[in-house]
Amino acid sequence: MRKNIVAGNWKMNVTASDAKHLMDEINQGTYNCDLIVACPTLYLQMATTKDYQFSLAAQNCHHETSGAYTGEVSAQMLASADIKYGIIGHSERREYQNETDELITKKFNRLVENNMTPILCVGESLDIRQSGKHLGFVANQLKHVLDNCAIRADFILAYEPVWAIGTGETASPEQAQEMHQHLRSVLTSYQKEDTSILYGGSCKPGNAKELFAQTDIDGGLIGGASLKAESFLAIANSF
Ligand code: 13P
Repeated sequence: MRKNIVAGNWKMNVTASDAKHLMDEINQGTYNCDLIVACPTLYLQMATTKDYQFSLAAQNCHHETSGAYTGEVSAQMLASADIKYGIIGHSERREYQNETDELITKKFNRLVENNMTPILCVGESLDIRQSGKHLGFVANQLKHVLDNCAIRADFILAYEPVWAIGTGETASPEQAQEMHQHLRSVLTSYQKEDTSILYGGSCKPGNAKELFAQTDIDGGLIGGASLKAESFLAIANSF
């Protein structure tokens, strides 16, 4: 079922004591959506020992089940620590870790096998947008996973135009809606039209309401503005 969701992606930010403080502050807030915090892996278990109202997401997982992969964390390990969601396919990992659609599909499978919900990120670069091929490009990122995953399980989709991430430049509500509508039509062709689609990219308290008011936008995946409880909670109250 489509749900209103706001997820905060802390990326590689915040010290342990600040993380604890920020989570406590977020937990004191009220909001009318599903709230998810994707903190760094190191802090996930610190949070599961608390009685927080929000859910937790890992920012990544390894594509294999277990084994000799020094420094990596598997979906099975995350699930055993009570983590419900896992972000995969973020553009920063696609770019800096050279993650391909094939690898991201394996990660999707590992999460689903462990009863976790993938938050699958898709999005185009500025070059692709300017070439006018963005709709097809982003749809193909989604189709690759849906065509090749072992089980077509429930997941959350996040559209994050690369040119809008951390730049202060947001997709206009019309640009975002056009893409979300297109992705919804792809999801419909896979009988997955009930999937929530989040928008990510310089989403802030000042623009969240207008974005979330669009027909096919079900919430946001928030980077910078999730690092302050006040702005994160303001976004979570923008429906
Ligand atoms: P910003 O909100 O900082 O642009 O980051 C978006 C993002 O990448 C969330 O995953």
